[in-house]
This record gives sequence, C-alpha cells and structure tokens, in this order.
Amino acid sequence: MALKIAVARETAAGERRVALDPDAVSRVRALGAEVLIETGAGQAGWFSDQAYASAGARVLDRATVLAEADVLLSVMRPAPDVLKALRPGQTVIGLLAPLTNPKLIRTLADKGVTAISLDGLPRTLSRAQGMDALSSQANVAGYRAVLLAASHFGRFFPLLITAAGTSKPASVLVLGAGVAGLQAIGTARRLGAVVSGYDVRPAAREEVQSLGAKFVELTTSIAASGEGGYARELTSAERDAQQAELSAHISRQDIVITTAQVPGRTPPLLVTAEAVAAMGPGSVIVDMAASELGGNVAGSVAGETIVTPNGVTVIGAPNLPSDMATSASQTYARNISALLKHLIGEGGALEVDLTDEITQGVVVTQAGQVVHAATAAALGGSA
Ligand code: NAI
Repeated sequence: MALKIAVARETAAGERRVALDPDAVSRVRALGAEVLIETGAGQAGWFSDQAYASAGARVLDRATVLAEADVLLSVMRPAPDVLKALRPGQTVIGLLAPLTNPKLIRTLADKGVTAISLDGLPRTLSRAQGMDALSSQANVAGYRAVLLAASHFGRFFPLLITAAGTSKPASVLVLGAGVAGLQAIGTARRLGAVVSGYDVRPAAREEVQSLGAKFVELTTSIAASGEGGYARELTSAERDAQQAELSAHISRQDIVITTAQVPGRTPPLLVTAEAVAAMGPGSVIVDMAASELGGNVAGSVAGETIVTPNGVTVIGAPNLPSDMATSASQTYARNISALLKHLIGEGGALEVDLTDEITQGVVVTQAGQVVHAATAAALGGSA
C-alpha cells in the first residue's frame, strides 16, 4: 500500500504557510506516495483545494487526514489537536525547534511517533542544501523585513533628486549577517539605501562587503564562530563591549534590522534601551529575533509594533515568512519534498537510516526514544 503523506492546515495564530504547495504534491506523488491535504490547508497562501486536487492530492476533512496519515507534514510544531490525534508508528516532519521545545519532543517519543525536524539539517553539507528550510525561510524573512521597515518609514529609501528638492538616502544597519541578514542587506541596497552590516562571525565581513554594504568594524575584536557555521554565545565582557560600541552606530541610523540568533539560546541583546533612546524620531527597528524569550532589541515585543516616546517604531517580527506565505510555502515545500526524496526508498517506504549524516541530523525521536543527542541532553539525559 502506498505511503500516505498528509498535510493538515496550520492553526497557530497568524500562521499562513502550508507544508506542501500543489507543485510539490506532484513531486511527492512521483516518489510513489499518496498525498492527503486538509480542505482549506493552502487557502491562506493562495493555493486552492482545486489546485491540490488537480495535482493528484485527495482533499479531505481534518479528522480523516489525521487518522489516515502515515507521515504528517507541518511547517511549525504540530497543533494541540494534531498532537492528541497522533498514534504510534506515525511520523511528523516540520520545523519543530527541538532545542527550544524539548517537552514536545518527549511527548512525541512517549507516543511512539517518529519526529523529524528540519532544524537539525547539517546545512553546510552540499547535498543537504535543497532541504535547507531554515535558509529558505530566513531568505523570505530578510526580504520582508526591509519592506516592512520601508512601509513604516516616513521617507524615501533612495537618494532622489526632483524638482521638489533632494531627499538624502536612508541609512540602514543590519545586525546579524547570516542568511536573513544578507538578504535584508541586498534588498535594502536594491531600494537605494546606504547599508551597513555587522556580525560576530569573521566570515560575514566579506559577504557583507560583496553586497556593496559597509561592514561595521568594532575596535573590540570579537570573533565568535561556533559549531556548524553558527555563532557562539558571547561572554558577558564581549557582550558589554559589543553593546557599547554598536550603540554609537545605531544612533546614526534611520532603520535597524536585527536577525541575530544563537542556536538553542536566548537571542543576544544588541540594541539596548539607551541605543533606542538615542535614535532620531521616525526611525524604525525591525527585530526578527523577537520571541517570548526576548529579542535583539530592548523593549521589542513579538508580534507588536511599539512607538517609543522619542518616536522610534520598534517592530517585533518573529514570523515574517508567514506574511509572504506563497513564496515561503513554495520554497518550504521544495525543501520538504527534497527531504522526502532522501528518506523514501526504492520500495516507496520511509527508511530511517541513522548512519546517514543528513538523516541523523534531522531525526529527533524514533521507536519511543529521543535519538537526537542535543535534544536528549536538553531533556537531561543522553541519546
Ligand atoms: P542564525 O539565524 O543562527 O543567526 C543569524 C546571524 O546572527 C548569524 O550570522 C550569526 O553569526 C549572527 N549572530 C549571532 N550572535 C550575534 C551577535 N552577538 N552579534 C552579531 N551577530 C550575531 O544564522 P543563519 O543565518 O541561519 O546561518 C548562519 C550561518 O550558517 C550562515 O551565514 C552560514 O555561514 C552558515 N550556513 C551555511 C550554509 C551553507 O554552507 N550552505 C547554509 C546555511 C547556513
């Protein structure tokens, strides 16, 4: 019998993405699987039930999708009703953020569900790049952050010389020059702003400069590359020096976009309350790291737009990919279908081979155990 791969509608507040778009349905069916889609699952991303049906999916009600699924695809963590309905032997695949949700992972293990999370992908491996959902979503987010900032900014981004006078270009600073930050830098440059960027990983300097932006050099040398191409957490002395030096740059900016993350840790505070207070009225900050745990900007609140007493608009924007749900879903669906191609064997069954480097990175629970070492450690045991 064909493997049943299913997509339920995302129900988290404000989430508009869907794990498969109709194009991806065809790709997944070509692997020998059957595809089940909940009615209306793609609606918020402008994918109609009709388009899914034309691509060969069965469009069904939620309860049937959950009951029949062998593999359940999601964008973020499964919704509470999905969790409740999961049964032993089923597999869930999504961006589960196991290090920030270890309890969810324990629940999935206890239920005998195989949990696969794209967060753990070894991203620097070239054969894994088509599956890199963190990058595809960060790319959308970086682009969207600039548009969001521009729409809250009362001036033009480019230098404009018109009969009615000359407007000077906006100055944009991007803090954290990973995937999202570099996309934000490129997008702000294309809109004509004067752009600078900063990151603690030394490799970022050249990448920022190659996009035509200025790299912000601090006199305190901080080189904080960590494992897997990510940054490490700064020491408190490094953090204090960084905040103090960055503040002088921040006060001169019209727009600041922050993207800094350290895997499994609270996001670093890069823009202090004093730095926000020193910015001019009309300036805009977009904090992409804003979360319940805090963000990169003092006073930012996830999902809210605040105007400070000195006239700075601070936007806490933790889920920008959802605001561009069509592109975000299309690229996510490409990542998911590439991962499924990797995991589904010739016979059309899911094969979880933990000796494979990609599979080992993404499989979090299997046969009732938490097999992902970092998650097991976060739960206080070892895998
Ligand atoms: P991320 O989302 O974890 O963090 C965003 C950025 O914040 C990173 O560039 C990080 O260095 C920076 N950051 C963290 N703490 C900071 C601090 N205190 N001050 C300033 N900046 C800080 O990272 P993302 O974008 O997911 O990936 C980071 C890097 O991982 C990439 O730029 C790349 O080097 C590597 N990577 C490599 C890939 C490949 O080889 N194909 C694919 C994806 C990522």
